[in-house]
Amino acid sequence: MSSDTPALSGGRPPGPDGLPLVGNQLAFLRDPYGFMTRTAREYGDIAAWEDPGGTTYQLNHPDYIEQVLVSNNENYIKGERFQHILRPITGNGILNSEGAVWRRNRHLLQPAFHPDRIEEYAEMMVAFTEDALESWAGGQTRPIHEEMMELTLKIVSRALFGVDIDDHVERIGDSLEEFMLATESLSHLVLPPQVPTPTRRQIRRAREDLDAVVYGMVEERRRNPSDRGVISKLLEVTDENGNTLSNEEIRDEVVTLLLAGHETTALSLTMTAYLLARNPRAEATLVDELEDVLDGATPTMGDLPELGYTERVVKESMRLYPPVPGIVREPVKPDIVGGYEIRPGSTVRMHQWVVHRDPRWYDDPLAFEPDRWTPEMESELPKLAYFPFAAGPRRCIGDRFAMLEARLILATIYREYHLELVPGTDLDLMATITARPKHEIPMTVRERGSRN
Ligand code: HEM
Repeated sequence: MSSDTPALSGGRPPGPDGLPLVGNQLAFLRDPYGFMTRTAREYGDIAAWEDPGGTTYQLNHPDYIEQVLVSNNENYIKGERFQHILRPITGNGILNSEGAVWRRNRHLLQPAFHPDRIEEYAEMMVAFTEDALESWAGGQTRPIHEEMMELTLKIVSRALFGVDIDDHVERIGDSLEEFMLATESLSHLVLPPQVPTPTRRQIRRAREDLDAVVYGMVEERRRNPSDRGVISKLLEVTDENGNTLSNEEIRDEVVTLLLAGHETTALSLTMTAYLLARNPRAEATLVDELEDVLDGATPTMGDLPELGYTERVVKESMRLYPPVPGIVREPVKPDIVGGYEIRPGSTVRMHQWVVHRDPRWYDDPLAFEPDRWTPEMESELPKLAYFPFAAGPRRCIGDRFAMLEARLILATIYREYHLELVPGTDLDLMATITARPKHEIPMTVRERGSRN
């Protein structure tokens, strides 16, 4: 099926039937990746079905996704069905806000992500990784996902807030983890937000714990505002009436950046390690490149232009395992997508997971082939056939930060270590806001050039 179908087709596109009352929600929760993939393969570029909350559309063509996220983005909001999931923990931070508040705060945060600022973070990213590797020894089995989560959390706190969270890393990490696990609960997703459930109590406790640390960070910056970090910047802001941001507004942005800025990059690294362990040829090519370019030294910002294969490995890993597997939007006015009218009150789903594995855009789509990313291939790829960081005005603010961090951490680890999957480890992914492994991915680490 192609995207050249502008005429209004009327009615609703075909889609899976679903059950009375619950629609396809149970089918989705039971096997999210299977459900979204089957829906695309069976019904084509646009599918729809009825859920208790209204009609859900799944867009499977890059052009349709471009229309929603980029060319007609003003017609869409994140919407309550997405926002109510994040609100208990990130409040009204920029991942979850809309309109004037989103615009003002995105503008305030943007300078922290300017390419020049990001370059300043490179040395620290490598130093923190080397510090983490101090506790590794050849032959040990390490919980890779947990370690990547801790490392990326420390990096984002230092880079954006100028704070070393060594004393709090567990408390912050555990609270965010509890929250993310709770978001998988069926009752949390289906019952109206005002209904108290054990999951919601768990989320409240996680929030109280997190708030204690984050308000402490804000107070510290109030007392000592001289740094260039994001909190100091937010503390300086005044609106046209001279009002400053409240502590809670600042807290919401800090928690948003902590959450959005560590889990996704950690996932991309975990999945990259998993894929490299299963593709020894790709690992060997990566290691050859690191030996050639680094010649035994630690990686720096200056090495990155020469680490082309390293970059392709990260890109290809986020194609197969996009850390954010899907995006949701709600139309505020009717729109015509693929010849069908999409009305307010409906939900639009777009899945990186599905589009990134579509054989129309990628030969042998399930194979891990970093070398597929040639300039020619990229120039022919429809724009939204690859969108790990989304696109349009709500594109990830941390995309450059994440790509820098992922490449540097990968290079620092793989120049020293070879990582092996523990036999019998299976990969089972959740599909909530992120595609995180349900179980740890333990890996045995071996020093290069040694028997251990
Ligand atoms: C591999 C790593 C990352 C991936 C795959 C990723 C992916 C995404 C995606 C898909 C969105 C759009 C969500 C939507 O529209 O519903 C997003 C938004 C966002 N990301 Fe990232 N992200 C990554 C790393 C980061 C980092 C390192 C930071 C900050 C340090 C960050 C901060 C944010 C924020 C604040 C938003 C909301 C932007 C807005 O709505 O204006 N992300 N990210």
